[in-house]
Amino acid sequence: MTTAPVAAGRAAVVCGIGAELPPHIVTNADLTAGLDTTDEWIRSRTGIAQRHIAGADLSTGDLAVRAGAQALADGQPVTVEALVVATTTPDRCCPATAPAVATRLGLTGIPAYDLAAGCTGFLYALATGAGLVATGTVRTVLVIGADRLAALPNPEDRTTVPLFGDGAGALLLRQGSADEAGALGPVVLGSDGTGADLIRASRPGALHMDGSEVFRHAVDRMATASRQAATAAGWELDDIDRLIPHQANSRITAFVARRLGVPEDRQLSDITETGNTGAASIPLLLARSAADGRLKPGHRTLLTAFGAGLTWGATTLTWPSLRNSHPTERGRT
Ligand code: COA
Repeated sequence: MTTAPVAAGRAAVVCGIGAELPPHIVTNADLTAGLDTTDEWIRSRTGIAQRHIAGADLSTGDLAVRAGAQALADGQPVTVEALVVATTTPDRCCPATAPAVATRLGLTGIPAYDLAAGCTGFLYALATGAGLVATGTVRTVLVIGADRLAALPNPEDRTTVPLFGDGAGALLLRQGSADEAGALGPVVLGSDGTGADLIRASRPGALHMDGSEVFRHAVDRMATASRQAATAAGWELDDIDRLIPHQANSRITAFVARRLGVPEDRQLSDITETGNTGAASIPLLLARSAADGRLKPGHRTLLTAFGAGLTWGATTLTWPSLRNSHPTERGRT
């Protein structure tokens, strides 16, 4: 499915970014104390060297508030009129996490809702946020991806524990025009419930994943969605300056880039430092690479993700000039 802006020329434009990683870092070496694994296996099969882990005192909502506050501080001064929180790990089954996050950000009264689409959640949330702007429902929307995925695996399962980390990232969107830097292009979204059992968790500590099947689907779906999003934006694949894929496994993202013919140095990554942070992964990578200079204003940027559901998505934007915010700038690695 492709969503196009409703009113010609009107678009949702990125005008602020924020990111938050829990301070506690668990390295691969730390994991070998309790799991039959090695740093070499994890690095070579996944690209991951460490992950940030939230303690019991740091909820998904806490991470979301910190990332959202950064996006508001770093964005142009605007009144936020809606909030979407993409998460697979809400603080409670009921109520949703977003209204409490909104209130803690001083935004009581605005529409605020959660959205669950696995690791594709941030792109689904961007699409609905952009839709609110395109229809004129609101003029500004804060989109946050926040997850504590490290809580999902069985702590004794070496095939899943090393993969996941915790974090949150946010983009602030405002109403603008489609020809501005920062304007989101059409968003390609899809799902396939026949693969629902491939990644599933009935509760924290009970994640089941068919790794090799998920790997195959992830490469196929992200490559196809990326082509569709580029076409919908009127781009050739050669036009892509920066590919920002969901960070699930560095081998998956390398395959996606190769399928698209995107050179290695244009495919950005931070999985070594963060592991798979779910709905937070894309905004975290955007924030880190904008902060360290790999992503610059004017870069034609393609975002793509895949996750439980199965779900997938992709979209485009020309990276705008923003004040950047990433925890690395605030002294974290
Ligand atoms: N340390 C050491 N050995 C491990 C291990 C670990 N942490 N995890 C698995 N192994 C072993 C397996 O037990 C298996 O051993 P066996 O051959 O004796 O049975 C061997 O390594 C190969 O396992 P396999 O599952 O085939 O490895 P893989 O190359 O497919 O890598 C994943 C496994 C999970 C890293 C990979 O399949 C993957 O990343 N899948 C996608 C995950 C994902 O993206 N999930 C989220 C989607 S948003």
